Amino acid sequence: MCGIVGYVGKSNAVPILLEGLSALEYRGYDSAGICVMKNGTPTTIKEKGRLSDLKQAIAATPAISSALGIGHTRWATHGAPSAHNAHPHSSENDFYTVVHNGIIENYISLKEMLLEQGVRFQSETDTEVIAHLLNHNHTGNPMETIFKTIRQLEGSYALGIICKAEPDTLYAIRCESPLIVGKCSHGTLLASDITALLPHTSQAYLLENHQLCVMNERDFFVYSEEQEQITPTPFPVDWTVESAQKQGYDHFMLKEIYEQATAVKQTVQCRLFEEGICFNELPQSNQWLMGFRSIQIAACGSAYHVALLGKDMLETYVRLPVSAEIASEYRYRNTLTNPQTLFIAISQSGETADTLAALRKAKKNGACCVAICNVMGSSLAREADYVLYTYAGPEISVATTKAYSAQLALLYLLTLSFSHRLGHLGQEEWEEILEQLKALPKQISRVIADTPRWVSYAEQFHNAKQFFFLGRGMDCFTGMEGALKLKEISYLPAESYPAGELKHGPISLIEEGTPVIVLSTDKRLFPKVLSNLREVQSRGAQVLLITNYPIGETDIAGEVYLLPDLHPLLMPSVSVLPLQAIAYHIAKVRGCDIDKPRNLAKSVTVE
Ligand code: G6P
Repeated sequence: MCGIVGYVGKSNAVPILLEGLSALEYRGYDSAGICVMKNGTPTTIKEKGRLSDLKQAIAATPAISSALGIGHTRWATHGAPSAHNAHPHSSENDFYTVVHNGIIENYISLKEMLLEQGVRFQSETDTEVIAHLLNHNHTGNPMETIFKTIRQLEGSYALGIICKAEPDTLYAIRCESPLIVGKCSHGTLLASDITALLPHTSQAYLLENHQLCVMNERDFFVYSEEQEQITPTPFPVDWTVESAQKQGYDHFMLKEIYEQATAVKQTVQCRLFEEGICFNELPQSNQWLMGFRSIQIAACGSAYHVALLGKDMLETYVRLPVSAEIASEYRYRNTLTNPQTLFIAISQSGETADTLAALRKAKKNGACCVAICNVMGSSLAREADYVLYTYAGPEISVATTKAYSAQLALLYLLTLSFSHRLGHLGQEEWEEILEQLKALPKQISRVIADTPRWVSYAEQFHNAKQFFFLGRGMDCFTGMEGALKLKEISYLPAESYPAGELKHGPISLIEEGTPVIVLSTDKRLFPKVLSNLREVQSRGAQVLLITNYPIGETDIAGEVYLLPDLHPLLMPSVSVLPLQAIAYHIAKVRGCDIDKPRNLAKSVTVE
């Protein structure tokens, strides 16, 4: 959610911190700040609003140049977005200054204790408690002090810390919130997200929980809680700087919409061979597979919609009971999870707190845990028994598109592979789907090429009071994704309903001119969906039908978009594309900040 950067080296820290914060701004962006050490004195500048506001504030202060600093972009949890709640936060005499991602759950009792000691607070944040507590605990040795302090903290944290007593040293420590360290020709760097390190290094070191990293301009050193030095293992970064840049597109979301064919291709091609599908990452024995009695798929947001689609496809083709679980509910529900459960967690970032907690719960109950994620070395990837990466490349836009498509493609592969291994899929159908799967990126590109078509639709409907998406079977879940996209980036109320369910209440909301997007990609169900379409149309709805069924606009007296006619299993990969494009163009016509929608964050690392 929030973003952390840190630098110590031979260059001026200020532009390096600001460049890092730009790369992280998508994680959280209601305020930002930096603190740099100059001649042993920390200077903090922070501003409410976007990073551009902080940059203006920095430009307006006498030029600062410093070899060491920390920076932060904030997504408010404790205390409203404001300059005084923005990070960094310092102890009263600026002795310790910290930036923090995560939530300190026992901050109230710690604050009370510090208030009793006469400490005065400047903000409403939980983070400020850490700065004062460090100062309160100071033993003369920052390393010792930091270890002592974290033992008093409950909750999650990634911390960048500077201390006046050691003005050439940067400290970093984490618990449940990621922190990455890198080394470049002119210094060492710290970030909460790999994208901030890409311009400087292609080797990263992922800190483990409670490991302390001590950084200076030449090197960094990692210590265990017992204060023993550890040799960290480097982690190669295969993302390029360019892949995390806009490259001429108006928005990251548009760029990522166009990158979907590649994301799917990269995810599929390394597992699809002449002779079939192979997941080298998973046990190959059929015994392993046959040991499962149920499958649970947990995720949040758009990844949950992929889970719903996954439930449908796995139940159809693998013939096991499958549940799609909202991770934040799963973690507290009395679930039926046991060693015969195959648990699949889906997450682009691999850091979503609820998904991670769901995985831990499933693991504790003995389930075999598989993570599907896009960020290498993420917490989910590291904690799962097996990890299946999607190769979508860095996704920057808050509203996911290419990671969603890659997750979907991975679930096709998993479904087909399991189904084939268990003998549930006839040879003919297996070959037909494999052929189409190979050609899927091309079909995706074809539909995406129509993206400009949706400009006029957006111009017509950008002021609509409410949108509806209707569909049956998998189309209903794709509709949920379409509705979420619209809500996220254009702030328009939108609902997706199983087409047959509308009559049981929501149809009362249909008025003259209400836009209704009807999805119908399973030909068996087309006549049923058509009846539902007529029901809303006769109540004044303006219908757009997205289908692979050859029907003309005059036949339905509404707009029709004809999709490529693929095997029903693969249709969700093409039917979601017009919905993403419609959401994008409506948000654009409405003048919304597409890549950074209000109140949202890309990676939700708090409950
Ligand atoms: C946020 C994002 C969504 C994403 C969800 C889950 O809400 O805005 O786009 O689907 O988190 O994120 P994850 O990283 O776990 O896929």
